[in-house]
Amino acid sequence: VSTVVVAIDGPSGSGKSSVAREVARRLDLAYLDTGAMYRAATWWCLHSGVPLEDQPAVARAVRELPLDQGVDPDAPHVVVAGTDVGEAIRATAISAAVSAVATNLDVRDELRRRQRTAIAAQRDPGAFSGGRGIVAEGRDITTVVAPDADVRILLTASEEARLARRARDVHGSDDEAAVAATRDQVLRRDADDSTVVQFQVAADGVVTVDSSDLDLEQTVQAVLAVVTQVT
Ligand code: C5P
Repeated sequence: VSTVVVAIDGPSGSGKSSVAREVARRLDLAYLDTGAMYRAATWWCLHSGVPLEDQPAVARAVRELPLDQGVDPDAPHVVVAGTDVGEAIRATAISAAVSAVATNLDVRDELRRRQRTAIAAQRDPGAFSGGRGIVAEGRDITTVVAPDADVRILLTASEEARLARRARDVHGSDDEAAVAATRDQVLRRDADDSTVVQFQVAADGVVTVDSSDLDLEQTVQAVLAVVTQVT
């Protein structure tokens, strides 16, 4: 029995969460949304009153983050200390604060360690609770968390396409006002994130899939084609 590890990185609005989850479903693989981990860590700090500018306190809080994250693509639950935060972590306040937590290098060490453990559990066909293979997505999976993944993909899209997607997600419309309302946040978050991780250019051996002119199904097909080619 052999299992496959698929790593997908990309900026916000590239569609990587929807695409990665759907690819996992079609291939019957587990699904790990690492952005959800940084979001859950941010929620936990805000919830426990840890000031985000106090880096050592944030690092301590995240080391003890009581996170229970599901890896079933049909039910990817995110539970922190018994509270289902699946919806709360998508709030604008979390999106605005998450980079402050994700640029903390001790936080990254801790969450990367947990991500590697989650991936390893799915990679090993003899693992007690895993062994089905996994699609893991984020900003540094192809480069730092799982550079040895069987398939490594950078999902990109033009700025215009990314902003329109985010505007539809957040405001339910991609008219001019909705895009303008999204622009600053998306561009600032990508700029902040870029100070600690590189996800704008494909690293050596990473295949770029540009989704600018593709809908969800076409992007899923493009990613599946890469997986088939490589495995
Ligand atoms: O993908 P998503 O928009 O949910 O990610 C939320 C945030 O989590 C990103 O803006 C980034 O700050 C952080 N992140 C990260 N490394 C990852 C995944 C997400 O720093 N691998």
